[in-house]
Amino acid sequence: MIRKFLMVLSSVVLLVPVGAVCRPVSDIIPRPAELQYGSGYFRFKGDSVPSDRVRCTLTGAGPESYTLKVSRDSILITAGDSAGLFYARQTLRQLVEPDRHRIPCVSISDSPRFAWRGYMQDVSRHFFDLEFLKKQIDAMAALKLNRLHLHLTDAAGWRVEIDRYPLLTSFAAWREGDLWKDWWFGDRRYLDEGTPGAYGGYYTKEQLRELVRYAAERYITVVPEIEMPSHSEEVLTAYPELSCTGEPYKHSDFCIGNEKTFEFLENVLTEIMDIFPSQYIHVGGDEASKKAWTECPLCQARMEALGLTHVDELQSYMIRRIGTFLELHGRTLVGWDEIMQGGADSAAVVMVWRGVDQGVRAAEGGNKTIMSPGAFCYFDTYQDDPSTLPPAMGGYTPLSKVYSFEPVPDGLDSAAASNIIGVQANLWCEYIPTEEHAELMIYPRLFALAEVAWSPEDSRDYDDFHRRALRLCGRMSVDGYNVFNLADECGDRPASRRSVKHKALGCKVVYNAPYYPGYAAGGDMALVDGLHGGWTYGDGRWQGFISRNRLDAVVDLGRVRGISSVEMDFMQVCGPEVFLPAEVVISVSCDGEEFTELWRMSREIVRDDRVTFVTDGWKGRARTRYVRVQARSGQYGGFIFTDEIVVR
Ligand code: ACM
Repeated sequence: MIRKFLMVLSSVVLLVPVGAVCRPVSDIIPRPAELQYGSGYFRFKGDSVPSDRVRCTLTGAGPESYTLKVSRDSILITAGDSAGLFYARQTLRQLVEPDRHRIPCVSISDSPRFAWRGYMQDVSRHFFDLEFLKKQIDAMAALKLNRLHLHLTDAAGWRVEIDRYPLLTSFAAWREGDLWKDWWFGDRRYLDEGTPGAYGGYYTKEQLRELVRYAAERYITVVPEIEMPSHSEEVLTAYPELSCTGEPYKHSDFCIGNEKTFEFLENVLTEIMDIFPSQYIHVGGDEASKKAWTECPLCQARMEALGLTHVDELQSYMIRRIGTFLELHGRTLVGWDEIMQGGADSAAVVMVWRGVDQGVRAAEGGNKTIMSPGAFCYFDTYQDDPSTLPPAMGGYTPLSKVYSFEPVPDGLDSAAASNIIGVQANLWCEYIPTEEHAELMIYPRLFALAEVAWSPEDSRDYDDFHRRALRLCGRMSVDGYNVFNLADECGDRPASRRSVKHKALGCKVVYNAPYYPGYAAGGDMALVDGLHGGWTYGDGRWQGFISRNRLDAVVDLGRVRGISSVEMDFMQVCGPEVFLPAEVVISVSCDGEEFTELWRMSREIVRDDRVTFVTDGWKGRARTRYVRVQARSGQYGGFIFTDEIVVR
């Protein structure tokens, strides 16, 4: 009955098909800019609403904006444009109290904070079919998101049919092994389509046009991403002549000195533009090694001819040239924030992933900027205690962290602030092989991103949002989404929630081997500040060691004291190459010169999917002033992280 009511409403008001997503709830996400409940309800009887009770006007006011007035006997909508009408309807659907056949009287005036409200789906590392994408589009529409960015190409598989280069889909779209990590840590072979056991897939042009249409009906633009100059192992194995040495299975970066590279990319982009009407075409641009360019005669000749002195400028040349090509076709280039290395064209849109500081740089430099920093917007991270969740890439980004993200950093002047056009969540799928797992990672974190993207900054209130999110989680579960169980969220690592008192607190630490500056955790006092780290080594409390001797630090207790234990926590998360120490040694000294070994431990390091935390250390009786801790890595190398040297 409710569904029929909504269908009548949509035919009367909006002429947009009703999707299968969230059934309405009375708590709206994203929170409208202005909302005032009145008293009483608009009630609907039987199966339909007389059309004269619903009125709708297009005003030409702000894009995507609307007002909605529900009174006891009418529903009045005004909207800036047809997108605004669509969003009014999404709000209305969330307001309906289905069991009671009513909508609360309410007055809403609403418009988005940001024009770009995005979600990125990686379909290269694991391939997701069209039905899955449509299901997520339904949810995006309900959350008033308007950009679906498809990461269509990467080493793990090319996913879009390109007529001119058939090997991209008959070969580069298929690999040995369906799990990315088995393939990546194995031989990384590609296979011909149809080979028994080949994993992969691609979308036909027809399928993608259907997706574009489906999304457009929900006011969502599908933004394709074609990676260049790097993340292109699959292309350069299918078409090795586009790499610097011409050898397959060798390169991730296109050869920039070779005109054939540009011919290929422009031909591919021509077909991409024919499929995707999006104003914005994403060209990747991230994580190029650029190493082969330094030795490649063609790249070197190109640099010389252009008077370039650094390979960063060669990347910049390439991105600018592709940007000009897209501009000639009326489109706009978007790239990850590395496109600023060597200088970015002012027309390029910068998508920030490495950190908010990159966004400041882009916005102050005059580029339109989309904020998507990994620390807040990457949903391939754990959202709760890793031991309660399927294996993920690592990290820890709970709902509250996503919600806390402020896309316009403090201190930007108004011109720079206006360059920040939006915000986006990204789901990289190296560790996400199934649809169920993907949805678990997306929801409810996408609710938080949607509210950051749509609602006024000063309306944010996590407790209220959490209450609404719980309700929407319930509705989405009923609608068949595999939503993370927010009601049972554990929170951050218990040890990180309280400070510890111990004898080394605030003592001087001398590092015989340096910590890695990128994981300084506050510097020289990090290991004696009384603070344990949480579920991720990236939380600013874990100190990271990658130098040859890894951890080798001496704590000076200030005077000779009796001690009964020395303990350190270590963590392992293999995806980002963080391992437990293979050996830990604790020694003591009264003079800081002669050390006596107290304790030594060694363990076998096993690469596995779990995130592991251990406490290593000595217990006994000793008198000492200096405590030296050494931790060495095992056969895989990688980082060692510890958060505190606890001396009791
Ligand atoms: C990225 O995460 N390399 C954009």
